[in-house]
Amino acid sequence: MTASSDIQKAAAILESGGLVAFPTETVYGLGADAENPEAIAKIYAVKGRPTDHPLIVHLAPEAGVDYWAREIPAEAKHLIGAFWPGPLTLILKRAAHIPAAVAGGQDTIGLRCPSHPVAQALLREFKQGKGGVAAPSANKFGHVSPTNAQHVRDEFDEDPRIGVVLDGGRSEVGIESTILDLSRIDTHGPVLLRPGRISAEDIEKVVGRLPAMPDSTAPRASGTLDSHYAPRTPVAVVQATDLRKVLRKFMMAGRLVAVISHSLPTLQDALAQAVMPATPENYAHELYAALRDLDDVRADLILVEAPPSGSSWEGVNDRLRRAAHDEGRRIEMLLESGS
Ligand code: TXA
Ligand code: MG
Repeated sequence: MTASSDIQKAAAILESGGLVAFPTETVYGLGADAENPEAIAKIYAVKGRPTDHPLIVHLAPEAGVDYWAREIPAEAKHLIGAFWPGPLTLILKRAAHIPAAVAGGQDTIGLRCPSHPVAQALLREFKQGKGGVAAPSANKFGHVSPTNAQHVRDEFDEDPRIGVVLDGGRSEVGIESTILDLSRIDTHGPVLLRPGRISAEDIEKVVGRLPAMPDSTAPRASGTLDSHYAPRTPVAVVQATDLRKVLRKFMMAGRLVAVISHSLPTLQDALAQAVMPATPENYAHELYAALRDLDDVRADLILVEAPPSGSSWEGVNDRLRRAAHDEGRRIEMLLESGS
């Protein structure tokens, strides 16, 4: 695990405008001083991410949100009380003195207090706990988020612009934080921009109403682009009853297929198979590692047995839909063609 000298070194790198990768309970982040536009620019450059995509600012548990946000609705206070530290990001109206660079030019700000002990130690050390660390997931734009330190090293291949990669073991949650927009609560109510471990129903229990799904005027979020969180190998999600059929067709066409399943037994025809746990929490915990492992076997396709539906599975299903983007339709056509 991480020594306190590593934390001090990482905080010093952040304070001097450098980049640091660090663990959180969701996924690993690539951090920079949220108030230093030059440091923010380095994140966009290293990730290859368009500069109009806003970043989440990570805060120490003792830091207040009032420094960062200009209006804090009662709902935000209740949600912070219920879920921080933890995997919930709140979008609020940005305070005027916070640089627009961190928010991709938007007049809002994404805030989150992570529960991972290494992240908290870093946030408490950086600017004596009074700063904010802007951090997207520590992966190239559009690729699968990292859930351990080796994933980060694989992703950036020892990029010298990353000062240190703090190792905090495997991320417990495994998929990115739930993002809830409260910046337009007066007119639109709470809006769920990205599902995660904290479900719409969990939010409803605290604020008394279910969050709405995003409309076309909702703030844009890169994690909400259709194609995102994707391995290099095409991914397709199919119902369990169709999976063997699709697998056989691909095999007959000389294609190599890797499988992610959770209820099916070991399939002879699969080049490789990841058997996932049966609960949504444990499935999410292992999902990105499974996608990365199967990406490495160099199959022509990763076939995923569709997980159950329902509120607690929404985070997993959302990430699988985005990893698969347009492959689903191709598979449907193949099945319909009967060939
Ligand atoms: O779990 C997480 O949230 C991880 C860890 C490192 O904390 N971070 C993460 O960051 O997933 P990133 O940049 O990969 O995804 C953050 C998402 C993006 O889709 C971004 O557009 C959205 O949050 N976001 C951030 N600030 C926003 C804002 N002001 N308005 C709308 N969306 C925002
Ligand atoms: Mg990301």
